[in-house]
Amino acid sequence: MTQPQYRSGTSRRSFLRNVGLTGGAGAMFATMGALGLAPTAQAAQREQPFRALSASDFTLTGRAAARVVILGGGIAGLATAYELGKAGYDCTILEARDRTGGRNFTVRGGDSTTDLYGNTQTARFADGHYMNAGPARIPQWMITLDYCRELGVPIQVFTNVNADAYIYNESAGMTKPERYRTAKADVYGYVSELLAKATNKGALDKELTATDQERLVEFLKDWGELGDTLTYEGGERRGYTTVPAAAGTPGVLLGDVPTASAVLASGVGRYFSFEFGFDQAMLMFQPVGGMDQIPKALTRAIGAHRIRTGAAVSKITDTGHGVTVTYTQGGRTKVVEADYCVAAMPPNILAKVPHNLGSGVQSALEAVTPSSAAKIGLEYGSRWWELDHNIYGGITETDQDVTHIWHPSYGFHGERGVLIGYYNYDDDADSYAKLTPAQREQRAVAAGVKIYGDKYRTELVSSFSHHWRQTPHLEAAWHDTPGGPDDARYKPLNEPTGRVSFAGDWLSYTDAWQHGAFSSARKAVTALHTRVMTA
Ligand code: ALA
Repeated sequence: MTQPQYRSGTSRRSFLRNVGLTGGAGAMFATMGALGLAPTAQAAQREQPFRALSASDFTLTGRAAARVVILGGGIAGLATAYELGKAGYDCTILEARDRTGGRNFTVRGGDSTTDLYGNTQTARFADGHYMNAGPARIPQWMITLDYCRELGVPIQVFTNVNADAYIYNESAGMTKPERYRTAKADVYGYVSELLAKATNKGALDKELTATDQERLVEFLKDWGELGDTLTYEGGERRGYTTVPAAAGTPGVLLGDVPTASAVLASGVGRYFSFEFGFDQAMLMFQPVGGMDQIPKALTRAIGAHRIRTGAAVSKITDTGHGVTVTYTQGGRTKVVEADYCVAAMPPNILAKVPHNLGSGVQSALEAVTPSSAAKIGLEYGSRWWELDHNIYGGITETDQDVTHIWHPSYGFHGERGVLIGYYNYDDDADSYAKLTPAQREQRAVAAGVKIYGDKYRTELVSSFSHHWRQTPHLEAAWHDTPGGPDDARYKPLNEPTGRVSFAGDWLSYTDAWQHGAFSSARKAVTALHTRVMTA
């Protein structure tokens, strides 16, 4: 990838929320299609080639694999140890929390957390049910899937977009939720009608030849399901009140097609560019049984004996010929000596650790700012969203502060299930964090009832909420790296001069994705190995 996907917290937010008025991306795509500019099949896009290390790299060279201390047992730290381990490096991981994975955290019944406000929760989800509190979806092009393949982690489809999920914009005056398919039909229908009519009135005479305009109008008729008069009047794409069935039951179309003005006012179009996102387009995947199958497999491959959990780093010293890392574990201060260090901790935590790596490193770490995001898992005693709403996975969007409601992409037709009742960011996430877990549940459920009705409350069995900014030793859901990871100020992190190097999704163009952590780890591993082989 050559372009950063998000340059700032603001643009990421707008990306995730898909703020827009009318589904403009759809209209643009339509026009591109008519002009023959829509993307055609392309070769698979992969990151820069990565050559995995091998023990044989050292054969005949007289060199030996070095000792490496890795700070942080999240995906970047684990991937670093895993890849270095292939060449026989002697790796030790220091992880402050009591488990590996970092922000890759799957919550199951019995799991317990205490946040920085002192709220302790223990999940009560039934066996086989879980929520992915952190990463939860994997696009096909990300190397995360390559690691799943290599590590033998089975995957299944994660439903990121569902025509039968809902949109509910309360502040726009919507009095009931609307299915995605209905909203899309109306937005695409009216955008097509308006563009077709404008074209026929000569509005595009300067831009298009007469033939091009004919082709465009032909396309819009199909795209927007327009009648011969180029008018949008609804149709079967909106859905039915009675679905077509046996002879005698042709189906009853959803009535009451709103006006173009009402559709624009509802703001439903703001959600439709989401599925065009390079990192959000279907198909998406998830590991079977929870996202933490990835760090668990990495931990097994590395060897648990190489990982010290409950080990909080308190000082990093580059001695010129090695690295000394001081940490506390079980109330005792301990030291690890190594030849090299890869710091794969969150930058906001690393910035608080005393070191002698120079002011350039410190100011680079301090330039990166932490962002908030949160999720609540709502466990229900029945899968009423499948039974009553015919929704199997996918995301309901709302302008209420819960932002996104996710239907589970596993356990279909089972007896119960865990819904994500909010996945929100920034101020919304922080304001929920300030509540007690019981209040968070209450507020999230009140928002959901407005969309789904009473079962959202009456079928609830248990809940578990997780707020990344308030999570000890992490204190961020992801990070904003002003200027992008290649900005000059991050040079001391990208091209370290001493024996300490850095890795993490925040040092990649795909921050907030495991792909970023894996690819950053690969970069650090390649640089370290090159140095060892040429020393
Ligand atoms: N990668 C994160 C998501 O997809 C931000 O929600």
